[in-house]
This record gives sequence, structure tokens and C-alpha cells, in this order.
Amino acid sequence: MSDLKPYLKELVSDIDARLDVFLPAEGTAPETIHKAMRYSIFAGGKRLRPVLTLAAAEAIGANREVALPCACAVEAMHTYSLIHDDLPAMDDDDLRRGRPTNHKVFGDAIAILAGDALLNESFLMLSHVEATSRYTGIDFIKELATAGNSIHLIGGQVMDIEAEGKTISREALARIHDTKTAALLTSSIRLGAMAADASPIQLSCLSRFGRATGHAFQVIDDILDVTADTETLGKTAGKDLVAEKSTYPSLLGLDGAKKEAQRLTQEALQALDELDGDATRLRQIADYLLKREY
Ligand code: IPE
Ligand code: IPE
Ligand code: MG
Ligand code: MG
Ligand code: MG
Repeated sequence: MSDLKPYLKELVSDIDARLDVFLPAEGTAPETIHKAMRYSIFAGGKRLRPVLTLAAAEAIGANREVALPCACAVEAMHTYSLIHDDLPAMDDDDLRRGRPTNHKVFGDAIAILAGDALLNESFLMLSHVEATSRYTGIDFIKELATAGNSIHLIGGQVMDIEAEGKTISREALARIHDTKTAALLTSSIRLGAMAADASPIQLSCLSRFGRATGHAFQVIDDILDVTADTETLGKTAGKDLVAEKSTYPSLLGLDGAKKEAQRLTQEALQALDELDGDATRLRQIADYLLKREY
């Protein structure tokens, strides 16, 4: 199998093209909100979640085109969560994806509304998915809504904020990572697999892969917050320490956190051993995520 980089580039280009079609044009009235939505969506994110959606569909043997509505939907939900995560009342960040954060450019009110609007758009995008022999349109909607609900993504953000300035147990930290990050990442993969009409066994295998990859992803995000610089990250480095966030480096030290990321990636790769399909690209992506520098 060829190099991962050109494959990722190809997928990101498909995702960006479809996002551009799905989102209201910049000149649509009221212009401010559509500018704000597009500003954050097209700011140069890694597109990891939608890439996993498409790669999961291909692993099951489908054409990635069938999973594009799901891929765009998870990216829209993710981008909404970032706009809100950066707000002064949350992580209070000035930089995101190498640009001033949404609220720094458009103000808090528009940033809140741009996040809300992208959340709604995510479900509109998802409504373009074709039902399969195993999954109805409602199944897709339930999958995404659950990942983003107050028990998962939003619940995780609540626990993350409530854990600031405290020393929490490893189990409590794992729960935060599992909900605020791994849940949407897992659903990104599951939605791609569902669009490809995955069997229950294939779906369960990919769910285990997603869970462990998603958990590893947040551990690495926490490590990079300590080890990388702001320019490389495209977001302010070292902010977790200042905000007294509960993270793996703060709980286990940098070496302990790195070992945990490796262990979780190993767990993810093991889940793929049982996949009835072609897991080559998913393996390459999991490995790339472990070694990423931003
Ligand atoms: C950042 O996600 C938020 C986390 C859940 C750690 P990404 O690192 O995927 O951010 P973008 O999409 O590339 O900007
Ligand atoms: C964000 O985690 C998770 C979500 C947006 C749901 P972080 O707060 O660590 O993400 P960054 O570091 O700001 O990207
Ligand atoms: Mg946060
Ligand atoms: Mg943050
Ligand atoms: Mg972070």
C-alpha cells in the first residue's frame, strides 16, 4: 500500500469540496454568521475525524463517496465544539488552527451562534446519507446525536471544566477523555462503517478501534500541549498547566503519558486484527496519530 500522505490529501480534498457545497455561501444573509461558520471550518484543521469516517467505509469495502455526508457532519460537529471550547467562559483561547479564534474575530455572541449553527448544519449534512440494508436514516442521526450529547461530548466538557484545579483519579481522567474526545471520534468511524453497511461484528470491531484511538488522541493532545510550540500547534501551547487542567502529563508525568498513548494505540491496532476487511489505511492512520507533532 502506498504512502499515507497523498491518501490523506485526497480524502481532505474530497471532504473540503463537499463541506463547501453543504455550507451556506459566505454572501448568504445574514452574512456575518456565514462568514464566521466558514472562517472556522476552513481554517486548516487536520480533518482527522472525517478522514477516519471515509477510511472506515473503505475498510469495509465501500466507495468513500457513500460516507461523505457522515464525514462532513462529524467535522461540522467537531468545529462547533472547538469554537465553544475556545470561548472566554470555557478555555479562553486566542488561537485556533493557526488563526485568531472565532470569538476574537467575530465577538462572543456571533461565535456562540456560529457554533450553534454548525451543530444544526451537522445534522442537515447527515440527512444526505443513504440508508443501507442494515441502517436507517434514524440510526445515523441517533449515532451522531449520542456522541454529542450531555453524557458524551458535552458531558466530557463539563467534567473537564469541573476538574480544573483538582487532582482527580486516573479513572475519572479516563472518563473525561472517553467522553469529550473518544466518543465523537468513535462515532466518526462508526458512521463511515454504517454508511458502508458494516455487519454487527465489523461495527463492534471498529468501535473498539475508535474508542482506543480516540482516547490515545486526547492523551497525545495533552502531551503536545506541554512539548510542542504554539506555532507548530496552531493553538496556544502550555495552556493546560496555566488553567490547571487535569491531564495525563499532570497525573502520570510526560513519560507515563507517552507510555499510555502507546498502550492505547496498541489496543486500537489489536482490535483491527479481528476486522473482516482491509484495515491497512486505518493502521497507518493510528500510527500517524501516535507520532504526530501537531
Ligand atoms: C482538537 O482536535 C480538540 C481535541 C479533541 C483534542 P484536533 O487536534 O483534531 O483539531 P483540528 O481539527 O486539527 O483543528
Ligand atoms: C477539547 O479538548 C475537546 C473538545 C473540544 C470537545 P481541549 O480543550 O484539550 O482541546 P484544545 O487543546 O483546546 O484543542
Ligand atoms: Mg477544553
Ligand atoms: Mg481547549
Ligand atoms: Mg488540549
